[in-house]
Amino acid sequence: MSVNNQSSIDLLASQVLQGAKYREIAPELVRRIGAQELAKRRSLKEAVKATKNKLHQVGGAYQESRLNYEKSLALLRETDPEPVEGSGQAATSSHQLRAACYQLMQAHASTRERLPILDEFYQTIFAELPPVRTVLDLACGLNPLAYPWLPLPKETQFTAVDIYSDMLTFIQGFFALAGVNGRTQQRDIIGNPPTEPYDLILLLKTLPCLEQVDKSAAADLIEALNGRFLLISYPAQSLGGRSKGMVENYTQQFERLADGRNWHVQRFEFATELAFLVQTNRS
Ligand SMILES: C[S@@+](CC[C@H](N)C(=O)[O-])C[C@H]1O[C@@H](n2cnc3c(N)ncnc32)[C@H](O)[C@@H]1O
Repeated sequence: MSVNNQSSIDLLASQVLQGAKYREIAPELVRRIGAQELAKRRSLKEAVKATKNKLHQVGGAYQESRLNYEKSLALLRETDPEPVEGSGQAATSSHQLRAACYQLMQAHASTRERLPILDEFYQTIFAELPPVRTVLDLACGLNPLAYPWLPLPKETQFTAVDIYSDMLTFIQGFFALAGVNGRTQQRDIIGNPPTEPYDLILLLKTLPCLEQVDKSAAADLIEALNGRFLLISYPAQSLGGRSKGMVENYTQQFERLADGRNWHVQRFEFATELAFLVQTNRS
């Protein structure tokens, strides 16, 4: 890349990151998309606009109304932190905490779609898993607030990754209040995928989103990750409702991704989500 290109990317990134809707996004992703748009567009102004559009598509569109994170933490703080019965499982978190989490998860369109199936989703998947000590939730949205529904022992280490620093700070606050052994990372998982070993990696409705930025992003990410189990899911409905075509189309997408890999796969079709639990050859 020439010096000129580098300074155009710097300029574009600083302009995009000045926008209120974009300033919390991982700068590395702004620069990645910015570089693509600079190569395609006629002017810096056009490239800035196109970069913002793409960032909206892959992130902002899911947060129609931004949560007030201070008020949300206050709401969580008001809940009774004590588990209902002391079996040591996150699933026994207080009813109040669950109710607050449920309410807050509605603020992320993708996480919200899972609410009608939340219990069924995690109970079904975890029934198929051996004990899990480490979980990585990639492009997590507000899914870490579903932690009280996960049948996991308290000591399980949970790592949440997304591109929004303000959302991740809020999730870190939730972890502290709910007594979760959790941590967060702001990261563009296309350019900088985590390679450390995990028992379970969640890729919930994430791969199609990454492919909007880079056609080979899903396959490249899968290649880089080091998970014993992967939970890969796709939306089973668009805003207009459930669509048979969508399920078929995403089943084919998954099959192309799985092709030639030494994977053991279980398929689950929930009302709002199509999920594949993969035991990889990295066990
Ligand atoms: C379709 S939503 C899925 C959210 C969550 N996994 C769920 O199912 O509840 C996609 C998420 O990916 C995040 N995201 C988009 N591009 C990303 C990237 N390059 N690296 C990390 N996260 C990204 C967005 O901010 C958004 O929260």
